[in-house]
Amino acid sequence: MVMSSESAAAVEAPPVQAAGPEPFEPGRDPASPNRNLTPITTEVDVKGRLQVGGCVLSDLARTFGTPLYVLDEATLRASCRAYSRALSQAYPGPSLALYASKANSSVAITALVAQEGLGLDAVSAGELLTALAGGMPPERIVLHGNNKSLEELALAADRGVTVVADNWRDIELLTELAPQLRQPVRLMLRFTPGIECHTHEYIRTGHLDSKFGFDPDQLETVLQHLAACGWARLTGLHAHIGSQIFELQPHRDLAGVMADGLQLARSLGHPVTDLNVGGGLGIRYVVSDDPPTIEDWVRTVAGAVAQACRDRNLELPRLLCEPGRSLVATAGLTLYTVGSRKTIPGLRTYLAVDGGMSDNPRPITYQSPYTAVLADRPGAEASETVTVAGKHCESGDVLLKDIALPPATSGDLLAVFATGAYNASMASNYNRIPRPAAVLVHDGMADLVQRREQPEDLLRYDVLPARLTPVI
Ligand SMILES: Cc1ncc(COP(=O)(O)O)c(C=O)c1O
Repeated sequence: MVMSSESAAAVEAPPVQAAGPEPFEPGRDPASPNRNLTPITTEVDVKGRLQVGGCVLSDLARTFGTPLYVLDEATLRASCRAYSRALSQAYPGPSLALYASKANSSVAITALVAQEGLGLDAVSAGELLTALAGGMPPERIVLHGNNKSLEELALAADRGVTVVADNWRDIELLTELAPQLRQPVRLMLRFTPGIECHTHEYIRTGHLDSKFGFDPDQLETVLQHLAACGWARLTGLHAHIGSQIFELQPHRDLAGVMADGLQLARSLGHPVTDLNVGGGLGIRYVVSDDPPTIEDWVRTVAGAVAQACRDRNLELPRLLCEPGRSLVATAGLTLYTVGSRKTIPGLRTYLAVDGGMSDNPRPITYQSPYTAVLADRPGAEASETVTVAGKHCESGDVLLKDIALPPATSGDLLAVFATGAYNASMASNYNRIPRPAAVLVHDGMADLVQRREQPEDLLRYDVLPARLTPVI
């Protein structure tokens, strides 16, 4: 059955049988997709098969192969609109959400996000070129990075992209480039706000012991230095406290710290108009996750920034934020084909799939839990507890540990949800396994947006020195 995104969003999809110890429910909150386990267009068709964006998942697998990243356009657009709407309703000044493209960088996603009127945050020449190729206007792009190369800085400056200065080296390199620049560089300053939040150590960035940004104690010195740099036009301040955060209080605390920075920068003569509070809103990976809605998050951040500025008698800055995961994660799912099965009596049953840590490194990196169902039998009784393992030569290559599934055999199709963020973008070729294709689904159509790598592609950059050429 093909449905438009609007009608799918309005219809309550029937509950689907358990995919874990807790009941599994398809996406129900079109206003804040980060709170859903699945894309908002998820449905069960008349034959009991799962479909997303009007496309039956097993049809997609047949057409495009597995593993396959599937992205639901309606969910992605709904998330973009949720941020833009909440910002314009909750913040009395101008505002802009920038998509943190590290979450999932592609030309197609950029084009879609640009169409929705968002800006974009890039952290490398690769992400920057992808953004420009996707039609993102340079004035809506910021370039991050704690170790940018001279080439990356030159590219950004040349295209009129705002550079987020992370450290003294950025400033030194830009000073070196200054004589060749046709226009002043639009700069933001990133600093570590000294705010702790409860998330995985590897994705916490706002505490003082972080590799990102200037230490707050250095802020005044940097601001004084930049005031004397003719090439620099400091337009904003930036801080980001971490990722997959469910608490709102750290974001409130951040507003005060940033408003202090804004006051200092303006007092030193910088025409700072932008406060960029980063991203960080969490999503629901498993039923027990309970993240705030996009609206709650924005209302908290916007209210706190507006209040902090009022308290200090500051003219309201433009409010920028950089959501990544909460924009794109639940729009995505990954389809795998089940292969081998190993039962260790009394201990565990392993189901192996045709992907794993190379297409989703989050479980092995952060011990992240996921939710999954059999794509053609989401309603079948989940009577077995199994561990879904990947195909890589690594014992830790486990995608889902001890989840309840209907009995599955070789050839069954597994749908793992909420893989739209930090999967494709963190994918590797470990074991020389090619990276999956990606499709964008909408209204019963599927567009290929990333071609599947082939094993031969992986040899493209190998060079065999002549002296090692085998003599036949
Ligand atoms: C500077 C910056 N902005 C935005 C983000 C996006 O964070 P999230 O995906 O949690 O929204 C990150 C993620 O690490 C980041 O480092």
